[in-house]
Amino acid sequence: MIRKIIITIDGWSSCGKSTLAKQLAKELGYTYIDSGAMYRAITLYFLRNHVDWTDQTEVKVALKNIHLHFEPNAKTGISEIFLNNENVEYLIRDLIIADKVSDIAAIAEVRTAAVAQQQKLGKKKGIVMDGRDIGTTVFPKAELKIFMTADIAIRVERRFKEMYDKNPNINLEDVKENLEMRDYIDSHREVSPLRKADDAITLDNSNITMQQQLKLALKMVAKLGKA
Ligand code: DC
Repeated sequence: MIRKIIITIDGWSSCGKSTLAKQLAKELGYTYIDSGAMYRAITLYFLRNHVDWTDQTEVKVALKNIHLHFEPNAKTGISEIFLNNENVEYLIRDLIIADKVSDIAAIAEVRTAAVAQQQKLGKKKGIVMDGRDIGTTVFPKAELKIFMTADIAIRVERRFKEMYDKNPNINLEDVKENLEMRDYIDSHREVSPLRKADDAITLDNSNITMQQQLKLALKMVAKLGKA
């Protein structure tokens, strides 16, 4: 029997982690889990319910009332996130969420809850998970760890295009500011900050196509000779 592995994809905001993760999952018949969606859904809950996230007790109570699960989209087969049984996959992509998510993702209690659920999802392996601490904290023993990076100007342009399709009022400067702010908070927080795991392979996709990046990643998988 073919042995399934765990693939982790970490890196800066908007450098194409989820695109590569989805490509790989499809190619290998693996499950794709977007760990950032969990932090975004928690942020949505906090905002909707006016949770004061500077208050530890309020955070703890709120976390008890949050149930997250993933379900594959009937058409695409790609897993989408549900917050207390409501599909919030689209809602959590708003700039209002992006503006606050890094602060909320830096809270220790929030991370403990999210990481525990992420580890459960990886129990059976055959999973591609993207995020910021997947190769360092969530699955430190993952068979393949990819650390993605890309030029900041290219990342801003990509994110802008993605958001512009949904909201033509979006401003390039706001998108740039948000990316830089999130990168800073994500890599400077106390609990499991974004960093490249020592055994991760760097993939810079500034100047390569999506097909080329998939090819490179599949080569890494093939090299392991396990998937
Ligand atoms: O991947 P994303 O942009 O949807 O992630 C949203 C935010 O969630 C990101 O700014 C940092 C946080 N995050 C995290 O702290 N750890 C993860 N494993 C994934 C995301």
